[in-house]
Amino acid sequence: MKNFNYSSLILIFSLINFVRMKTEVGRDITKVKQLLENGELAVVPTETVYGLAANGLDSNAIEKIFQLKNRPKNNPLILHFSNKNDILSYVKEFPEVLSKIADQFWPGPLTILLPKNNKVPNIVTSGLSRVAVRVPKKKILMSLLNEINFPLAAPSANLYGKISPTTVAHVQKYFDGKISYILDGDECEAGIESTIIGLENNKVVIYRSGSTSQELIAEQIGYIPENKFIENNTPLASGMVPYHYAPETPCYIMNAEFKVELNDRFGYIFFSKPFYKYKNLPNVHFLSMNENYEEAASKLYQIMHLLDDLNFEKIFIELLPDEEIGKAVNDKIRKATAK
Ligand code: TXA
Ligand code: MG
Repeated sequence: MKNFNYSSLILIFSLINFVRMKTEVGRDITKVKQLLENGELAVVPTETVYGLAANGLDSNAIEKIFQLKNRPKNNPLILHFSNKNDILSYVKEFPEVLSKIADQFWPGPLTILLPKNNKVPNIVTSGLSRVAVRVPKKKILMSLLNEINFPLAAPSANLYGKISPTTVAHVQKYFDGKISYILDGDECEAGIESTIIGLENNKVVIYRSGSTSQELIAEQIGYIPENKFIENNTPLASGMVPYHYAPETPCYIMNAEFKVELNDRFGYIFFSKPFYKYKNLPNVHFLSMNENYEEAASKLYQIMHLLDDLNFEKIFIELLPDEEIGKAVNDKIRKATAK
């Protein structure tokens, strides 16, 4: 009996090792291309966050994304293209105002919803009539997109509801042994997801705030685009679901006017000058040391990952001023603290 248990254990371990694949990290574009062409997944870097990518025209491959992320099927995916022209054969129209915005901000962290044609598989859009498209800026990803003749479907490379990854190490935390290749693109410069826009009654609206600010879009179109993600409760975009981006550790908002003693059982993420006096404490991290919004965005997820891994009892995060990219950072902070 004892012997039987021992050998069954060995058998189970070898089976687990057999099922677990080895996750390679590298900059081999040809390898990623082959994987994608064979209907497999690969993780790729973008300028915003790392993405879990599949051939965007291969429904079976896209199915694997939903399974691996544990993501509900009613949460559609963004298609990534190497240039704006290629998008035209997948949409019914590209309204002029959106086309001009695209010219201004692509390649870059902006996603546009356009009426899809039937070349786009329904699984990409969860059956919705519009498809989300973007031309990303990350150099190594652009080289890959230039090599393939299909768009890349790619959500952020995290398990559903967890913090998005901005480094290879973050991706490994979620998917080591579960995917065969991570294309290494170093850190994601912008650090938070793309802004999602679309057209309603001929007006540009923002569905998810992100790395392209509302102010910059307003400058381009001559009016302030409405934020449809604030009051609207239906999860049109995943960024609208309040429990998104949440660390495991309970997170709370803390502002400079809260006069409380810091506690070494808690982790802190600060932004403003009044907190600089704590900068030497090991449990205190700053999103920026010169109140720079872009830098804060680029560091937010990284510091959240770091503190979450240290198993503090609680994490306190300071909001930024509600302007420019500060607004998008605050949106992510509010979601992390909404649980
Ligand atoms: O920066 C980014 O946008 C990153 C990188 C990898 O490109 N991608 C990303 O994808 O954030 P994801 O899937 O984590 O979030 C995109 C959200 C989806 O959750 C979905 O709710 C919304 O965009 N979305 C996608 N297609 C849509 C559609 N057809 N209609 C409405 N919302 C859509
Ligand atoms: Mg995501």
